[in-house]
Amino acid sequence: MEFKRNVVLGVSGGIAAYKALDVVSALRKKGINVDVIMTEHAAKFVTPLTFQSLSANSVIVDMFDEPKVWEIQHISLAKKADLILVVPATANIIGKVANGIADDMLSTTIMASKAPVLFAPAMNTVMYVNPIVQQNIERLKSIGYEFIEPASGILACGDEGKGKLPDPKLITEIALTKLYTNKDLYGKRILVTAGPTNAPIDPVRFICNHSSGKMGYSIAEVARDRGAEVVLVSGPTNLDIPYGVKVIRVNTNSEMLNAVLDNFDNSDIVIKCAAVADYKPESYSEIKIKKAGGILDLRLIQDTDILFELGRRKTDKQILVGFAAESNDLIENAKTKIVKKNLDYIVANDIMLKDTGFGSDYNKVSIISKDGEIVNLDKMSKRAVGEEIFNTIVKRR
Ligand SMILES: Cc1cc2nc3c(=O)[nH]c(=O)nc-3n(C[C@H](O)[C@H](O)[C@H](O)COP(=O)(O)O)c2cc1C
Repeated sequence: MEFKRNVVLGVSGGIAAYKALDVVSALRKKGINVDVIMTEHAAKFVTPLTFQSLSANSVIVDMFDEPKVWEIQHISLAKKADLILVVPATANIIGKVANGIADDMLSTTIMASKAPVLFAPAMNTVMYVNPIVQQNIERLKSIGYEFIEPASGILACGDEGKGKLPDPKLITEIALTKLYTNKDLYGKRILVTAGPTNAPIDPVRFICNHSSGKMGYSIAEVARDRGAEVVLVSGPTNLDIPYGVKVIRVNTNSEMLNAVLDNFDNSDIVIKCAAVADYKPESYSEIKIKKAGGILDLRLIQDTDILFELGRRKTDKQILVGFAAESNDLIENAKTKIVKKNLDYIVANDIMLKDTGFGSDYNKVSIISKDGEIVNLDKMSKRAVGEEIFNTIVKRR
């Protein structure tokens, strides 16, 4: 559970109403409380019971239902909301809010709330481009309401064009950035590396190492949410590209080196979280090496130490953070790396611990600064580790 925030999720009567279920689940997984308000038409598409089960809260459809506890619910939800998110937003609900109509629970709660409101419109293309809908959207934008652009594609009605609800994962990420109020990294340019790199042997084989990329992606997301401009140089991973982050995909050590050097001078903080291959085959075979029985001798040579290179180039204004995945003498090895590579911090994790590190959503690390201060953290989510890294940097600056 990372942030204690409340989202009021308004669901209106569009064909994409079922996709709002995924948004509820994704927000809940981030520890966010979700109260769902459905329009009466939305309840024709998906039952309130389904939203109730996923949100673990009662769902309100009828404003005049007998309340279960005595409170005026549209007022209490309007006050409780840190964000009102409308998914999908019909042409009708947009039109109502733009014109001051409050004739059901959703439109009345929006009217009664000071919380930011984020609409995710979804409708037939002809409806979406209708000047009345567009004028309503522009009117709402001009007074601070926010919108997630619909996607283009083949719509449920068979027409093709703009009007599709974007991927619920994207909607969730945009909602998270709105919920996050600590913008202490605003104006900073942050470069993060993540994932493994490959060292090719021949056209089909390569040497790689364990790294899911989750730690670096989490750091990039935290930096983005705290207001930074983020470049993420990523080795091969199965992770989705984080919204609002510039991602440069690379494969090998030298590709990662080039991408990092291209962005290094422009960066205020650089966090090297990638598990870069230290060794590569002495020679690359242009053709697939055939099975010849017995032993295949493979000579490996050391590849570039990217972190060392960055340490050499670092100016006094830049902060350089390395990661040390160690299996023994964690703190001593990490301290040696700080000196050898001219780092400001090193984040050391013991890869021998169970349920943390490679592939896991959790990590247990120590953050060591160049003057020897050590912050020993408990096991926590990788996102929370990212938060702690930036807390340490910001506090010590
Ligand atoms: C099968 C069906 C699908 C619909 N899909 C959409 C849609 O995707 N977007 C939209 O704006 N309206 C859609 N409508 C029309 C809305 O349901 C209608 O405008 C309704 O009054 C919206 O009410 P609400 O905004 O209170 O939920 C659809 C209607 C039907 C019958």
